[in-house]
Amino acid sequence: MDTQALKGSWHLVAQSGDQVPLFFYSALFLMYPEARGLFPVSMAAQRDRLVGALGHIVSNVDRVDELVPFLQQLGRDHRKFSVVAQHYPAVGQALLATLEHFLGDRWTPALARDWTQAYSLVAKVMTEAAEESSATSPPWWEGEIIMHEVRAPGIAVIRARLNYPYPFRAGQSASISCALRPKLWRYYSFANAPRRDNTIDLHVRVVDGGVVSTALVHGTQRGDILKVAAPVGDRLTLDANPPRDLILIAGGTGLAPLKSLVEQMAYEGPRRDVRLFVGARTSRELYDIEALSKLNVEHPWLSVVPVVSRDAFYSGEHGMAVDVALRAYRGQDVYVCGSEEMVQQSVSRLLDAGVPPGQIRFDEFTSAGGRAQ
Ligand SMILES: Cc1cc2nc3c(=O)[nH]c(=O)nc-3n(C[C@H](O)[C@H](O)[C@H](O)COP(=O)(O)OP(=O)(O)OC[C@H]3O[C@@H](n4cnc5c(N)ncnc54)[C@H](O)[C@@H]3O)c2cc1C
Ligand code: HEM
Repeated sequence: MDTQALKGSWHLVAQSGDQVPLFFYSALFLMYPEARGLFPVSMAAQRDRLVGALGHIVSNVDRVDELVPFLQQLGRDHRKFSVVAQHYPAVGQALLATLEHFLGDRWTPALARDWTQAYSLVAKVMTEAAEESSATSPPWWEGEIIMHEVRAPGIAVIRARLNYPYPFRAGQSASISCALRPKLWRYYSFANAPRRDNTIDLHVRVVDGGVVSTALVHGTQRGDILKVAAPVGDRLTLDANPPRDLILIAGGTGLAPLKSLVEQMAYEGPRRDVRLFVGARTSRELYDIEALSKLNVEHPWLSVVPVVSRDAFYSGEHGMAVDVALRAYRGQDVYVCGSEEMVQQSVSRLLDAGVPPGQIRFDEFTSAGGRAQ
């Protein structure tokens, strides 16, 4: 297989921008009208999630060994879209038709053969993983909302009780969909450690023009049902051996996975010193301060420090959470979570201050779904 030719041809096609998904979906839905029902009603309103990733992943088939865990995860995750093995040939055909259309004379039989082989390989890894996981877990769990509190402007804390046991680890997240926006899935982090009663807590902040976040914060209430796909992610999970002291730095709802780590350590027993720095723009945005103050009082190994960046009247710590955290740095491991901008700034401050890269764990709340690229 000529992998350079695959990459080069995808690079050329991708230059046509939005025309590419437009053609791909027209081809797919013309050839297989039944596939339309798998996609959200309004596809114009959102960025394309599938086509760019599809071309990129398939043309990087020379990295398939390295990509296997990601593709298996992606395949398992596609069960939440109600995708089954029989749909893969249709998507493969629409992809080939798209390449042929945009490459014109440059679409040769050799290139067609290479794309077919590469797609088959990727599809095989994804479908096998999906089939294997079907035996042990549902494509999604259903969670009835039992608490919904808008705690600050545009920020809600939501508790849902899932219909089956849901095995996850503190620090993980899951793709979630709500009835008001069917077929649209977004990642949210658990704000709690696993509990016996199968409940999960979510902290959701509205992003400007955000379809799912607005629905979850302002259009959802007690009694509504959420769909929750399998848990994902290991960037923020705890390293148990050895249990090192920790600094946790949260920006906004980036608090969620860090709070779940605190809950986990509270269950396991205090074997380390933990300092949690909670960043917010204004004191009104410190939406979980009551619960955090309670944890602070209950656990002598924990200290919670709220830090506010844009509120002249706030009497506590001012500035960026990372700068306040660095004053407490004594060689601990550091976990960071929040918006892309907050995480990038914080990590670069930590590195500048001499924190070894191997001791920094971070995750960003981006809008990207699949993230192997
Ligand atoms: C692993 C992971 C965990 C996450 N956990 C949480 C969480 O616990 N709580 C939480 O509130 N959010 C979390 N997010 C972000 C969440 O998945 C959504 O991206 C966010 O809620 C916006 O979705 P939407 O449908 O409202 O916006 P969309 O309709 O998808 O986007 C609307 C507009 O906002 C932009 N946009 C989308 N997402 C963001 C963002 N996160 N920041 C800035 N601009 C954005 C888009 O580019 C677009 O222009 C997490 C993201 C990831 C990847
Ligand atoms: C090699 C095969 C495939 C690859 C590499 C692939 C890749 C992806 C990726 C990376 C996403 C974004 C994930 C996310 O947002 O969480 C996605 C979304 C999606 N995929 Fe696939 N996919 C493949 C095959 C298929 C097939 C066969 C179908 C069935 C028709 C399908 C249907 C979907 C749907 C419905 C979405 C959500 C789209 C949206 O929200 O706009 N995919 N795919």
